Amino acid sequence: MGKTITIAIDGPAGAGKSTLARRLAERLGYLYIDTGAMYRAVALWAKRLGIGWDDAARLEQLARESRIELGAGGRVVLNGEDVSEAIREPDISEGASRVSAIPGVRRALVEKQQQMGREASVVMEGRDIGTVVFPQAEVKIYLDATPEERARRRLKDLAARGLPAEFAQVLEEMKRRDERDSTRADSPLRQAPDAVYVDSTGMTEDEVEQALLKIVRERTSNGKEVTN
Ligand code: DC
Repeated sequence: MGKTITIAIDGPAGAGKSTLARRLAERLGYLYIDTGAMYRAVALWAKRLGIGWDDAARLEQLARESRIELGAGGRVVLNGEDVSEAIREPDISEGASRVSAIPGVRRALVEKQQQMGREASVVMEGRDIGTVVFPQAEVKIYLDATPEERARRRLKDLAARGLPAEFAQVLEEMKRRDERDSTRADSPLRQAPDAVYVDSTGMTEDEVEQALLKIVRERTSNGKEVTN
């Protein structure tokens, strides 16, 4: 097997990471890996079992025992069950942010993510991909947008899924989650020093995709390593 390429995309909630990472992966023929979905799957399992968001020992055990498959079109399968919709509920967003602060949970899921990246070329998105999971990634992008723009996008997403919400409430929850994700002790959300910063505020998805493809091409050549 030839050398695999890793494209790491980090950034706060609602910056457009999932959509753009998926589009980039399709274009390049790489696997798309949504690491947030893995934390969400653990949170969902914990909720169903009635395990508290702060029960570190049991949550780590769940993270280790979980069988999480990330399928085509962004489908998420937990222990054989398709949980793609269930993990997008607002209380699971909150739960995922809580369980992701637990070092044992992170260790277990990071190991799974590293294994996935060793086996294939991937576009992997999350909060700590360029800093912790793959510090040697060939391409690192930090995708950002203003909180208001990110809340507007999240509101649109929710509405499209038949879950109307209040702008002020979505903005408030998003800021609280970002604050927790950026200030936790273990692997906080942070731009890697060698990541390219992209502010997608006011840009269309096509424009962001073009910007990201340009960055990828500057560091790789048709998905192969640059030799010059
Ligand atoms: O990207 P998302 O909203 O689906 O992520 C859900 C939560 O998981 C988010 O609050 C932060 C956390 N997360 C993380 O800590 N590290 C990652 N690599 C991905 C997500």
